[in-house]
Amino acid sequence: MLKTQEKMLMNLYDTFMTAKRLVVMTGAGVSAESGIATFRGDQDSYWSRFDPYQLASAEGFIEAPQRVWDWYQWRRSQVGAAQPNAAHYGLAELAQSVPLFLITQNVDGLHHRAGSQQVCELHGRLMMNRCFNPSCGYREDAIDFSAPLITCPRCQSAYLRPDVVWFGESLSASSIQQSEAATTECDVFVSIGTSAQVYPAAGFAQIAAASGAQLIEINPEATALTSQVDWVIAEPAGKVFEGLRSLLK
Ligand code: OAD
Repeated sequence: MLKTQEKMLMNLYDTFMTAKRLVVMTGAGVSAESGIATFRGDQDSYWSRFDPYQLASAEGFIEAPQRVWDWYQWRRSQVGAAQPNAAHYGLAELAQSVPLFLITQNVDGLHHRAGSQQVCELHGRLMMNRCFNPSCGYREDAIDFSAPLITCPRCQSAYLRPDVVWFGESLSASSIQQSEAATTECDVFVSIGTSAQVYPAAGFAQIAAASGAQLIEINPEATALTSQVDWVIAEPAGKVFEGLRSLLK
């Protein structure tokens, strides 16, 4: 058993070290071992406890801005108290040794906090606010997790909202372009901790495969992507990177 685990880690290490261009895409599962809930899955996941329409759509915000604001302030306090885990740190360390383009669907900022310099944050940033009026463009750091819901200090015409992408909203064109370009050019694509159900992120693996890249998935559960990848590592990401970090040193 130990031998199998060691062999897997050595193979993964070799694959990473010999990659010419590595793309890693992470989802909520990479932060699970930091104590942050995932969106789908068990009874603790966000969308099994809360209605995504009410909390993660512009319509839900217009209907009840205070409800949405309170939920995001609660999430901010949870993320603020959490620490990056071995997977976040391991990815930051890996980027010192190989050309790595890191894409995340997570808004928690834990990759940055672990030291990753360049992270393509497809779904925005939890720890920032922006004006609900898109033509205003005001943005600020969200520092006080008990601050009340306020109108925008610049335009005074709309509430501030979290700087995240909600259902029905578009991702930034530049983040999609950068991710697609990196994915088209990579020779190894690694999907970590995502159920691969939300597009366009879920489609990047197919783009990589079409360009001839090797696909690897690190996820203890089967996903929409599992049957399409070359190598499934059905383990928690933190555990895998804990082992990998000892080889990276
Ligand atoms: P999901 O909650 O859909 O999926 C989380 C995945 O993480 C599942 O496949 C789990 O099996 C896996 N997982 C759990 N623990 C893990 C661990 N320790 N190591 C590795 N994997 C683990 O999360 P996402 O796919 O990220 O969108 O969700 C995509 C988007 O849907 C989110 O960005 C969010 C949500 O609605 C927005 O907020 C816009």
